[in-house]
Amino acid sequence: MLVASNRGPVSYEVADDGSLRAKRGGGGLVSGLSAIGPDAGALWVCSALSDGDREAVRRGVGEDGVRMLDVPADVHADAYNGIANSVLWFVHHMLYQTPVEPVFDAEFRRRWASYEAYNRAFAEALAEEAARGAAVLVQDYHLTLVPGMLRELRPDLRIGHFSHTPWAPPEYFRMLPDDIAGQVLRGMLGADRLGFLTHRWADAFTACCERFTDGLGDTAVGVHGLGADADFLRARSHEADVEERIAVLREEIGAAPEGGPRRTIVRVDRTELSKNIVRGLLAYRQLLDDHPEWRERVVHIAFAYPSRQDLAVYRDYTAEVQRIAEEINERYGTPGWRPVVLHVRDDFARSLAAYRLADVALVNPIRDGMNLVAKEVPVVSDAGCALVLSREAGAHEELGEDAITVNPYDVVETAGALHEALAMSPEERADRGKRLAAAATALPPARWFLEQLDALRDRKPG
Ligand code: G6P
Repeated sequence: MLVASNRGPVSYEVADDGSLRAKRGGGGLVSGLSAIGPDAGALWVCSALSDGDREAVRRGVGEDGVRMLDVPADVHADAYNGIANSVLWFVHHMLYQTPVEPVFDAEFRRRWASYEAYNRAFAEALAEEAARGAAVLVQDYHLTLVPGMLRELRPDLRIGHFSHTPWAPPEYFRMLPDDIAGQVLRGMLGADRLGFLTHRWADAFTACCERFTDGLGDTAVGVHGLGADADFLRARSHEADVEERIAVLREEIGAAPEGGPRRTIVRVDRTELSKNIVRGLLAYRQLLDDHPEWRERVVHIAFAYPSRQDLAVYRDYTAEVQRIAEEINERYGTPGWRPVVLHVRDDFARSLAAYRLADVALVNPIRDGMNLVAKEVPVVSDAGCALVLSREAGAHEELGEDAITVNPYDVVETAGALHEALAMSPEERADRGKRLAAAATALPPARWFLEQLDALRDRKPG
């Protein structure tokens, strides 16, 4: 069995003394794969992403079961930043401001050639490594052309592809130049089986194929709603470093005027445009206007971790988030109360600390493949939290019944939902929290992974 993804399970940093330090990554795919153990001969093919990674490849340093591809840095940058995280991410999350963007010019074509080269490097490495009849699980929008390319090189393989993002509906997808749209769909259809996180994204893909190709052909489509890893999260969130951070956060939250800790509205995101952090802050401001009784009694804990900072749109968005948080603190804050506690330095232990203290979780993306935060907070929170959840998050398909649903564009509605969540009785909150946690853990990462592998192994190659 082989897995292929842009970001792999491990990355390297060059330490001051010149030695290489390995850092294991997190995420559903990593825990899914480690949970099934070193499956006989499993290999993970991923990309060198940093100078440290490239140095590791050069020195021949690596882990068993992981092969890092060192494609030229400029080719990777064009494929990853210039196509995957701008064009494809923006299409599937419907993020373009269409009067001015996108513009598919000669520069775009040049980057697309890099995207093709990048996909080809993966297809060739997989073709070289795979045993006869092996199952290959290709991940995400970075590698949409791999299944088709690999099928040509190795017709004997069972090829799967899984999308961790939404899929754009045909009316939006057709924004791509016809030949590129066709290449993406045919690339994916090179797989025996395609996986999506929700029915909505699977249906959108199928609709695109019906509109722009001859349909799905022999390719099967399945839905696997990745869940939270309850055992890992519960154990990890009670370790000493998390307890330390809880103490620090309690200081930052402070006490309500009548005593007792202030209530908390928690959000944790990569700072990324689809996460809708700015409208979340605007909704919080609206809450303080509409319900002044919450002033001094609530704190919005917002962790917005830097993501894809090579791209100006992501950097600008980070700056905007910081600006609005400061504005709220200046306008509403008092000597003993900071209404928004914003942190931007990535710290997993602190995220878990915030999850444990959450009274309300705010997850309001414009569009999101799943959103695991929505699933993790109910599992970890000490007292059971209320969840304000965008109807556009994939997680809404499973958690919608016990969450408070919002239209992510409607900040007045979102403010009302925050009030409703804060005002919910502790009993109702705990009840809903339990049901949310049960739904959130229905398909833990290891089973999510094995389900796909079993389904793929049941199919005849090609
Ligand atoms: C999304 C994508 C993943 C990606 C992750 C982090 O969840 O579906 O493929 O790894 O974002 O983004 P990054 O660009 O840092 O890998």
